[in-house]
Amino acid sequence: MAAGEAYLARRLRPYTTTIFATMSELATVTGALNLGQGFPDTDGPAELREVAVEAIRGGHNQYPPGNGVPELREAVAAHQRDWYGLGFDPETEVLVTVGATEAIAATMLALCEPGDEVVMFEPTYDSYAACAAMADAVPRLVRLHPPDWSFDPAELAAACASPRARLLLLNTPHNPTGKVFTADELGQAAALCADHDLLAVTDEVYEHLVFDGAHVPLATLPGMRDRTVTISSGGKTFSFTGWKVGWVCAAAPLVAAVRAAKQFLTYTSAAPLQLAIARGLGFPRERLDGFAVDLAAKRDLLCDGLSSLGYEVYRPAATYFATTDIAAVAPGLSAQEYCLALPGRCGVVAVPSSVFYDPADPVAGATLVRWAFCKRDEVLHDALTRLASWAA
Ligand SMILES: Cc1ncc(COP(=O)(O)O)c(C=O)c1O
Repeated sequence: MAAGEAYLARRLRPYTTTIFATMSELATVTGALNLGQGFPDTDGPAELREVAVEAIRGGHNQYPPGNGVPELREAVAAHQRDWYGLGFDPETEVLVTVGATEAIAATMLALCEPGDEVVMFEPTYDSYAACAAMADAVPRLVRLHPPDWSFDPAELAAACASPRARLLLLNTPHNPTGKVFTADELGQAAALCADHDLLAVTDEVYEHLVFDGAHVPLATLPGMRDRTVTISSGGKTFSFTGWKVGWVCAAAPLVAAVRAAKQFLTYTSAAPLQLAIARGLGFPRERLDGFAVDLAAKRDLLCDGLSSLGYEVYRPAATYFATTDIAAVAPGLSAQEYCLALPGRCGVVAVPSSVFYDPADPVAGATLVRWAFCKRDEVLHDALTRLASWAA
């Protein structure tokens, strides 16, 4: 029995510890380089840190409004308009949350009845199934297949046609695969939402970290603006993952529903950090695009290096992460066994992608490993040098 399970409600028992905590702890204990958890090892723009510091000095230290400071709601609305041509009223159609994580939880709690199904693509970001469980909802998984992480349209159609299907949860750009859903795939998703009267929820936290292709919010497709809850956050875009400033954009009745759940989870989030992210969202286009240019070079460094060490690499089009198949490098080992051995043997931590698949399917993703490349170049070089000793 895992720690705490004696007391934990049954619906949360499968979710006691996250693999990220386990692997980060291993990194600390062994002194290994942590390419497991997706956080950058350098801070975001000094200018934004200064805004936060000045806000604290300037007295922004009490509860801000429950739906977020006006500056951030206005900045989010302007961002959606300027980048995607989507109009949202900052008063009624934007809600600030404690990271995208709270937005996802509040959305499922607000919109799902017990037993409702949430259609989501597998591998899935780890909070989705846990949040569905909190809402007493049921994940309905649609598999993405390497090397391009495409899905079978018939499988998606069947999932959406289920009489209990309520939400389609779409994460693009996608963690862990780095996939950017294509216009055609988004079109299929939108048509199914319309056909089966599903609400869509999108997780777009990597929207500004796209290297190949372009990010298209599902809400921009015809008919989708009023049935989509769009979620994003400032953590990944600005390299401030510890700030946890996120937001929801949707039609007013949907935002009102999500706000009803959110107000009793946290009520509101850190005012000074909201003001700093508001400033960041107003950065000129070239500056925001520059973050992805820097990260693309890191993607290439890590992917080329892993490839030359014999790994089969699925080069991501976006995000912080690359996926490899380890079968050729570590024959006979599962990704889990490989990742547990790696810190001791090479001094590097990575995450077995099997944790992003349904635990009831032990074969899925069995030899896939996820690597974070949002690290300094010297750390990536060092990690590759260390990994060369695996074969030895
Ligand atoms: C797909 C995805 N959604 C949401 C989050 C969490 O975002 P936040 O830190 O804003 O809560 C992450 C963080 O890794 C993520 O990868």
